[in-house]
Amino acid sequence: MLQASLYLYALICTIFVHPALGFPVFGTPAQAKAALIRVKLIPDVFPKFDPRLTLGITYHVNGTALKGNLGTNLTPADTANRPVWSIPDIDFKREFERKTFVVGMVGKWPRCFAPIRIYSLTLHTNYLDPDAPSPTNRSASQVRHFIGGGFKLEGTVLRNTTPALSDYLGPGPLPGSPPHRYATFLFLQPKDFPTTPFTTSILNFNLSSFAEQVKMGLPVAGNFIMVGPAPS
Ligand SMILES: *[C@@H]1O[C@H](CO)[C@@H](O)[C@H](O)[C@H]1NC(C)=O
Ligand SMILES: *[C@@H]1O[C@H](CO)[C@@H](O)[C@H](O)[C@H]1NC(C)=O
Ligand SMILES: *[C@@H]1O[C@H](CO)[C@@H](O)[C@H](O)[C@H]1NC(C)=O
Repeated sequence: MLQASLYLYALICTIFVHPALGFPVFGTPAQAKAALIRVKLIPDVFPKFDPRLTLGITYHVNGTALKGNLGTNLTPADTANRPVWSIPDIDFKREFERKTFVVGMVGKWPRCFAPIRIYSLTLHTNYLDPDAPSPTNRSASQVRHFIGGGFKLEGTVLRNTTPALSDYLGPGPLPGSPPHRYATFLFLQPKDFPTTPFTTSILNFNLSSFAEQVKMGLPVAGNFIMVGPAPS
């Protein structure tokens, strides 16, 4: 009886607690899908999402690791530097081990905030981006925070072997707005993925149309954080 309990305990520890497995921290692909649908990043960013892998987001702030998972609230200071992206469940998905990946991170405004958004962006256009095109309906668009290919696995950690096409830019939600959704998606890198950095504005970006354009299809993993404006 005691022995059986110990076995059961060991099994539970292996499945739920073993740090190498990462599940307790980052959850499963199904949980990521449900959470992204709950906050409407699906379909706001991608019409469909059927993740095969878990995407880990870990920021390092003054020597402390901060996990960003399924809507964790983080501050602009926490997220100022590029996080480490990982695939914590790769041990169960060995077929992806030697693949090359693309990471894309976009910011979306809160849905309910769309009308004010247009107003504040006009006010702040010069600060955000002097080259922003003249008025379009931005309530549906995305801000490009990172696009990079050449990510290969080193253990569970994704390391990029080529320069980013759009370098990491930390979230900077405008004062007075509620926390914004910042979604990160992982793709299998297609053949002939571009190597020329973006020269276009980070505003009015559309990750799904970019994915279509470079033929990388739907994401294989995704995760998101929430970031509100810095206290003023
Ligand atoms: C990191 O440490 C420095 C120095 O102590 C401090 O000024 C800064 O606010 C810290 N950063 C964060 C995000 O806490
Ligand atoms: C912008 O687009 C959103 C969603 O497509 C729509 O609800 C809103 O009315 C549009 N705003 C303007 C000013 O056209
Ligand atoms: C983004 O691109 C996709 C695919 O081209 C398109 O269906 C969608 O309407 C676009 N979204 C916005 C906000 O323009």
